[in-house]
Amino acid sequence: MKITLSVIKADIGSIGGHIAPSQPLLAAVRAHIEANAQGRLIDHRISFTGDDVAILMTHRRGVGDESVHKLAWDAFVAGTEVAKRQGLYGAGQDLLKDAFSGNVKGMGPAVAEMEIDERPNEPFLFFAADKTDPGAFNLPLYLTFADPMTTPGLILSPKMAKGFRFVIMDVNETSGDRVIELVAPEQLYDIAALLRDAERYVVESVWSRATGEQSVAVATSRLHNIAGKYTGKDDPVMLVRTQMNFPATGEVLAPYATAHYVAGGMRGSHNMPLMPVGLNTGTSYFDGPPLVSCAAYAMHEGRLTDPLDAFAHPFWDAVRTRAADKAMEMRRQGFFGAAMLAMSELEYTGIMEKLAELGPRFRIRGEAAERKAA
Ligand code: 13P
Ligand code: 13P
Ligand code: MG
Ligand code: MG
Repeated sequence: MKITLSVIKADIGSIGGHIAPSQPLLAAVRAHIEANAQGRLIDHRISFTGDDVAILMTHRRGVGDESVHKLAWDAFVAGTEVAKRQGLYGAGQDLLKDAFSGNVKGMGPAVAEMEIDERPNEPFLFFAADKTDPGAFNLPLYLTFADPMTTPGLILSPKMAKGFRFVIMDVNETSGDRVIELVAPEQLYDIAALLRDAERYVVESVWSRATGEQSVAVATSRLHNIAGKYTGKDDPVMLVRTQMNFPATGEVLAPYATAHYVAGGMRGSHNMPLMPVGLNTGTSYFDGPPLVSCAAYAMHEGRLTDPLDAFAHPFWDAVRTRAADKAMEMRRQGFFGAAMLAMSELEYTGIMEKLAELGPRFRIRGEAAERKAA
């Protein structure tokens, strides 16, 4: 049976700065979906990660479906009304356009979708990250789908041994979707050369080469490309189908034990470790640290089980402690060097005005200046 998994998420307002949405806001989003799901959705789940609200939906209408996207958009508009009434910070933050037109892509909300032939059992994972951007998933996806040190299935499963196809997007291109397809393992070094630059080249999807089935869909939107200025980080969502011809759930989760440094945290402008957290967790330290949650689901004919909280397991407590240590270690050097993002990432913030103001106050000293004066 063909089923579409769609997850659309937005930051539409938060308590106490950029921490987490309020319960009334979530209730308004849920009420709107429940009142209008009939005839459009098979099932849905609403959750939050940091200050981002995600609507996970199953249906039969394919990817990019206008009525599904509009349903999510309108639910976020309803939530924004509550955010305004409650005086939440950043009410409607990610709704960058005034009116819905066809598809939420390019309008602010993040979207990850895939149409699949539902397997007799269909385990999948829904990841949501806050205070970071889509490149945060580059390292975990590389390790899971291309490195047998992380994924023994690449050696042990004949289907997985055929490798995976990566679709990688250049998210700096604003004229359209600039993408490249590369296959592992043959083109491993090409994949690595791109993915190391996680602010520019982002994994959009991953496919089984044995069967052609899609395993991964990542939201790739870059808000500053839409708004032309800093409007919050591009907190991404991702869907990953697991088991059978795909990596096992544990092989998909394993890389998050690294708590790798990602772009994000305070003002979207720092390098901070990615902390795996439980479902519906807010942010705290230094507007972060960047956090990732993972809801595991089974699905049958588009009907979802309850979510299982993949990072609630006691194992991840040790990782969280390490992530906190890594976060504090990086913060000791404030804005210097690797702690703050490169200028190319900061150019959408107010620092450009400061640099423009300082530019004319520079003087060239010595012979060169005398030559200039002569
Ligand atoms: P099962 O045999 O329980 O499906 O587990 C296989 C597997 O993938 C474990 O990593
Ligand atoms: P969000 O993108 O999660 O709203 O965070 C914005 C920010 O600048 C936090 O410091
Ligand atoms: Mg926010
Ligand atoms: Mg956010």
